[in-house]
Amino acid sequence: MALAKARKMNPRQLASDVLARLDVREWCDRVELAGGGFLNFHLRPTAVAQTLQSAARGEHLFFEPAAAPRTVVVDFSSPNVAKPMHVGHIRSTILGDCLARTLRLLGHRVITDNHLGDWGTQFGKLLVGWKRYLDPAALQTEPLVEMERLYKRVNDACERDSTVLDAARQELVKLQAGDPENRALWQRMIDESRHQFDAVYGRLGVRFDHTLGESFYNPRLKAVVQDLVARSLARASEGALVVFFDELPELKAHPAIIQKSDGAANYTTTDLATLAYRLETWRPDEIVYVTDARQQLHFKQLFAVFRQWHPEARTKLAHVWFGSILGEDGKPFKTRSGETIRLADLLDEAEERALAVVTEKNPELAEAQRREIARVVGLGAIKYADLLPNRQTDYVFSWDKMLALNGNTAPYLLYAHTRIGSIFRKGGLEGPTSGKATDAPFPLNAPEELVLGKQLLHFGHVLEAVAEEYRPNYLCNYLYDLAGLFARFYENCPVLKAAGPDRAARLSLCDLTARVLKQGLAVLGIETPEQM
Ligand code: ARG
Repeated sequence: MALAKARKMNPRQLASDVLARLDVREWCDRVELAGGGFLNFHLRPTAVAQTLQSAARGEHLFFEPAAAPRTVVVDFSSPNVAKPMHVGHIRSTILGDCLARTLRLLGHRVITDNHLGDWGTQFGKLLVGWKRYLDPAALQTEPLVEMERLYKRVNDACERDSTVLDAARQELVKLQAGDPENRALWQRMIDESRHQFDAVYGRLGVRFDHTLGESFYNPRLKAVVQDLVARSLARASEGALVVFFDELPELKAHPAIIQKSDGAANYTTTDLATLAYRLETWRPDEIVYVTDARQQLHFKQLFAVFRQWHPEARTKLAHVWFGSILGEDGKPFKTRSGETIRLADLLDEAEERALAVVTEKNPELAEAQRREIARVVGLGAIKYADLLPNRQTDYVFSWDKMLALNGNTAPYLLYAHTRIGSIFRKGGLEGPTSGKATDAPFPLNAPEELVLGKQLLHFGHVLEAVAEEYRPNYLCNYLYDLAGLFARFYENCPVLKAAGPDRAARLSLCDLTARVLKQGLAVLGIETPEQM
C-alpha cells in the first residue's frame, strides 16, 4: 500500500505486477491477490516441515544472528544512591535487562551501563544528616532506610531553618572541592547503596558491564561547557548558560540549561559528558536510555544539543520510556499506609505468594523444592506483568492477576513449559529425538500441527521486532499464543500414542515448542523450572 502510494499507482495493480514477477514456488503453494491490493502467501507444509526439521537438528531456533551486528549501549536501572530502590525502579531494570538480552541473543555487541545518580545537591543535606543525626545501629541493619531518614530529616529542617540550609550548602561545596572527610563519607554512602542495589540485582538476575555513575563524569563537565560555548552553541542567559533550539518547533519554548546561574553543572551537562565518553570509548551504533515518561523532555533536549554539538555522529539515540505502576485503586502504587513500596519487600512478597500457588499444584514436593520453584515463579510473575503491557501505558499491579495459572501470565507459560517436559518423562524419553530424525519425513497433516509449526517459525521476527521497537510485549504475546496453539495441538494430536513419522514429528513439535518457550522466557529474564 505504501509503495503504491509513493509511486502514485493503484495498489491492486502494483500487487498484481509484483505477483507476476514473484517466484516463491519453493515455499508457497500459491499466492493470491486479494482485496484492495493484498498478497496472501500460502506456505507449503513441506517448506514449514523443512524449517522445523533443521531446527530439530539444532541448526537454528527460528532466528538468525544479525548479519551486521551493531554495538548498542543500554543505559538502564540507574537509581539514585542513598535511597532504597523502590517499585518505580523496577520497570527500567526489567525492561532494560530484557532489551539487552534480546539484542545479545540476536548477535549484537551490547554494553550495559548503570548510570547511578551518585552526585548532586542531595549530598549536602545527606552530609549534614550523617554528621549530626546518624544512628549507627540503623545504618548497620538497613543503611538505605537510615540514609533516607537522614535526608528527610535535614530536608524538613531546611524548610524551617535557613541556617541548616546554609550548612548543607557548605558541606556540598566542601565535597565538591574534594574535602577528604566529605569525600570519604560520600564514598561510604555509595558503597552502602551499591551493596544494597547489588542484592536486588542478584535476585533479579540482572548484571551490568559498567556502573560508572554520574560522578565519573565530574572531571569532564567543564570541558563540555567550554566547548559548547566556544562553538557558540550555548550562550549566557540570565546568568546561566543555555542552548536554544530556535529551529526546532517542539523545543523552541524549552531551551536546555547546561550551566546553572550558580556555576554548577546539571543533569543535562552530565548526560552530555556521558554521551561523549560513550562515543569515544565504545563507538556505539546505538544508545538506548530506559527511564520513566517524565524524562521525555530531558532526552529530547539532550539529543537535540548533541546533534548540534556532534553533527557528524551517526549514532542512533533512543529514549525508551514507560508509564507508571498503579495500585488497584488506580492511584500510584503505594503501601496501605501510603508509603512507597520497597523493591526488596515486593520481591519477598512475590516469592511468598507464589509459594501458595506452587503448594496448591504440588503439595507432595519437599518444602525446599517448593521454595525454589516459588522463587522462580514469583520473580517471573513480577517481570512478566511488567513486560506484558504496552510500556507506554500505566498498568495496575495485581498479585492475583500476575500469579494466575490461567491467562497471559508467567505461571501459565512456566506451567506450559513443564507440561511438555512431562510428556517426555512419561514416554521414558530422555528428550527429543533431535539429531537422529534428520531426514525422516515430517508430516504436518493435522491443521493444529501446521498452525503450531508456523507459529514457531515466527519466533525470529518477533525477537527482531522487540529489538527494533524496544517492545518486549510483542514477545510476551507471542509466547502466550504459542502456548495456546500448543495446547490445541496437544488436545487434538496424540503424541506418545502416535506411531512412526507422526510420532517423531509430534515429539519434535513438543520439543521445539519447549525450546522456544524456554529461550523466549530467558530473553524476558525468566528462569524455567523443570517442575511446577
Ligand atoms: N538517575 C536517574 C533517575 O533516577 C536516571 C538516569 C537515566 N540515565 C541517564 N543517562 N540520564 O531518574
